[in-house]
Amino acid sequence: MILGMFALGWIAVNYPMSPTKIKLFVWHKSIGITILILVLLRIAWRLTDRTPALPNHMQTWERRLAHTSHALMYVAMVMMPLSGWVINSAANFPLRLYGLIRLPNIAPADKALQSQAELVHMTLFWILVALLLLHIGAAFWHHLKLRDQILTRMLPGTTRRLRKAAD
Ligand code: HEM
Ligand code: HEM
Repeated sequence: MILGMFALGWIAVNYPMSPTKIKLFVWHKSIGITILILVLLRIAWRLTDRTPALPNHMQTWERRLAHTSHALMYVAMVMMPLSGWVINSAANFPLRLYGLIRLPNIAPADKALQSQAELVHMTLFWILVALLLLHIGAAFWHHLKLRDQILTRMLPGTTRRLRKAAD
């Protein structure tokens, strides 16, 4: 969903002013708020449930890098939609999510705040792109070079099997 939002965000920003541009933004914002809800649920789940241990062959620095980059991605995944919501609020743009639910404002109408939030939204985007290059590169490095289970254990049902084996 997030990779799709990168594309949708860019297309919406660069689209010529028209009713279609507004529609693209309504989709961008609606899906963005949906992502915010899903990420908050995921964080609650992550904090209350066990996760499979990293493979034994991983060095301390690799474990630290994995944990830090995952944590930073969670921060970015929350801050991206929140900063978008601040842009929308500061612009005082009346928004109905999916054309149905009125989104309340979380910031006062303010042009300067709007520009700052736009800068934050854009900067976070590039930070997330950099983190994802590292992340996806690492996933394929584990799979193709180290040949461990990191990538394949993302498949449904795998965690249950691993836990059973551990218990
Ligand atoms: C995970 C969620 C989101 C992602 C990954 C995302 C990504 C992007 C990207 C890549 C752009 C184009 C680059 C830029 O100008 O920053 C953009 C623009 C924009 N996004 Fe989002 N976005 C998300 C959520 C939201 C939400 C929830 C809202 C509003 C409720 C929103 C409002 C906007 C606006 C107003 C722009 C245009 C900013 C400008 O003109 O500079 N975004 N977004
Ligand atoms: C081609 C795309 C992607 C691949 C191949 C991939 C691969 C993986 C793999 C294999 C793991 C599991 C690591 C483990 O079992 O310990 C993982 C975890 C994770 N991925 Fe991705 N990923 C991709 C895209 C993304 C995207 C777009 C995001 C969000 C921006 C993301 C965020 C995360 C996070 C936060 C974790 C840590 C989960 C946790 O421990 O709670 N990934 N990814």
